[in-house]
Amino acid sequence: METKIYPDYETLSAAVAQIMFDTIQQKPTAVICLASGHTPLLPCQLFVKKANDEHLHISEATFLGLDEWVGVPPENEGSCHYFLYNTVFNPLGLQAGQIHLFNSMADDLSIECITMDEVIENNGGIDLMIVGIGMNGHIGFNEPEVSFTNLSHVIELDKTTIEVGQKYFPAATTLSKGITIGLQHLMNTKQVLLIANGEKKATIIQQTIESEVSNQIPATIMQTHKHGVIMLDDAASSKINKIN
Ligand code: F6R
Repeated sequence: METKIYPDYETLSAAVAQIMFDTIQQKPTAVICLASGHTPLLPCQLFVKKANDEHLHISEATFLGLDEWVGVPPENEGSCHYFLYNTVFNPLGLQAGQIHLFNSMADDLSIECITMDEVIENNGGIDLMIVGIGMNGHIGFNEPEVSFTNLSHVIELDKTTIEVGQKYFPAATTLSKGITIGLQHLMNTKQVLLIANGEKKATIIQQTIESEVSNQIPATIMQTHKHGVIMLDDAASSKINKIN
């Protein structure tokens, strides 16, 4: 694992966008897995602009959604679905066959998990995964105590995730479960970027980088990924013991 620090959110976002661009330019059939949320917003916007301005050949790439709130419909502004379609997929003009998201409204969520696992396998694995980090150290909805060997799964959301998650929704929303790509998939991914900005993430970032690897802080798994990069703005890096 490597840690990279950028002066601010804008330069961090531009660096992430460049890696997304380069990944698809070098491998047009690349499989890209994206988190939603506030952190990936500017990276995704910059990527879309660059891809469109420079006519990136994108029609063979595959995009996966990292996770979704169970029971929240795609038209809800707070859903991951809504974020990804509006920020990335629609502005890029992707075809339906290039996009694979969990349908968290499905009657049988286990089929959604199996389907996602098959999509990943049938496409030769994930080339690039871009994830954020929760205030409790979650990645996707891999909450504290999750198994590191999980593939796609449904999980009870942690109290912190339920509270913090309200920030995405225009009105108070009942959240209890998530459906997510698991950490075994993260470990199998060729390159993983964990991105964080702002002082509010400084403590969990310090713990992620400096604590022992443990499922109490799922993001510590990044320490064990050979091609994992933690990309931070200055504020999010402010509590790291830089001597180590
Ligand atoms: C969302 C997701 C979550 C977020 C995390 C950070 O798809 O996977 O794990 O990445 O909660 O969210 P923000 O970026 O809003 O701070």
